[in-house]
Amino acid sequence: MITPVILCGGSGTRLWPLSRKSYPKQFVPLAGVQETLFQASATRLKGPGIGLPLVVTGPDFRFIATDQLAEMGVEQATVLIEPAARNTAPAILAAALWVEARDPDALMLVMPSDHVIPDAAAFAATVARAEPEARAGRLVTFGIVPERAETGYGWLELSETPTEAPQPLKRFVEKPDAATAEAMLEAGTYLWNAGIFLFSVAALRAAFEAHQPDMLAAVSASVAGARQDLSFHRLDPAPWAEAADISIDYAIMERADNLSVVPYHGHWSDLGGWDAVWREAGPDEDGVVTTGPASALDCENTLLHATAEGQEVVGLGLRDTLVVAMPDAVLVADASRAQEVRAAVETLKIKG
Ligand code: GDD
Ligand code: MG
Repeated sequence: MITPVILCGGSGTRLWPLSRKSYPKQFVPLAGVQETLFQASATRLKGPGIGLPLVVTGPDFRFIATDQLAEMGVEQATVLIEPAARNTAPAILAAALWVEARDPDALMLVMPSDHVIPDAAAFAATVARAEPEARAGRLVTFGIVPERAETGYGWLELSETPTEAPQPLKRFVEKPDAATAEAMLEAGTYLWNAGIFLFSVAALRAAFEAHQPDMLAAVSASVAGARQDLSFHRLDPAPWAEAADISIDYAIMERADNLSVVPYHGHWSDLGGWDAVWREAGPDEDGVVTTGPASALDCENTLLHATAEGQEVVGLGLRDTLVVAMPDAVLVADASRAQEVRAAVETLKIKG
């Protein structure tokens, strides 16, 4: 059985002011799409051999998550509540220990809740190619052919040029600096880490035993002490506070020597900033994207985002600019600074 595990915990401030701390982007319907990114992630894999989804999230989002699952006809999902956000390593480990206690032979497919993967059939076929590797005890990552020297992603180094078949990973490099990313793009033997992982719960436990034994102890105690609250399972806060705040990429993937890579060729996007939203929306020949009651005159490489409940937005003669107008807050930024929006929201301590 494969249990889909949905990670739903980021504060979502990279898409401020559309995405808010209390209502992050994965729960917001994006222009032109019926379901939210969270709903799409939770229902992406279906069919025989696929278990009900398990969602790991914080206390603030538990009802949004169950409401949105119910809208998709998923009533029986497991929802684990983290007492505090401690990044993806503790969240994934808690899910694995929870699943292992119920099905020691299970595989887990870990998916972020905020990715765009429109071709569910192609994605399912890729997961099927990865399954034998995961059954054999490998930690499988999914690789995307890189399009630019992205510093916000992990990069997967292969021994040879990427092929369809699973390949052992030579090296995992999380969030390189710009020069390293340029060199990796040039080399042609790297893929982007999609941030989606398939492994057996036993292999994940073994990886934590080898590389993060303290975290394994803390999270095991937190899972063992979980208590039920309505249909939710709240992890025990005291041991949870002992778990290091670190992502799975740094905690395990950069250290483990049993990683395999399976390339995914369908469309994939991490909506990790307004630059990604601009790319995903499909800019016109001038590089302009408008959403809602927004219009652009003589603009280039510009995003103008307005909402029906808000004010009309007009851009005139803008170059390389992001304008996001919500009823209570407006962002105006240089397009090249899109990745700094989160830091700006945090530094200015404005209403995230
Ligand atoms: N439950 C829970 N708790 N989920 C979390 C937490 C947490 O404390 N922190 C992050 N998440 C969720 C986010 O909501 C998102 O869905 C996913 O985990 C990944 O976290 P991000 O913060 O978006 O990571 P990233 O985009 O910087 O980097 C990861 O994804 C890239 C591809 O999108 C890495 O895996 C990179 O290597 C990868 O290239
Ligand atoms: Mg992300």
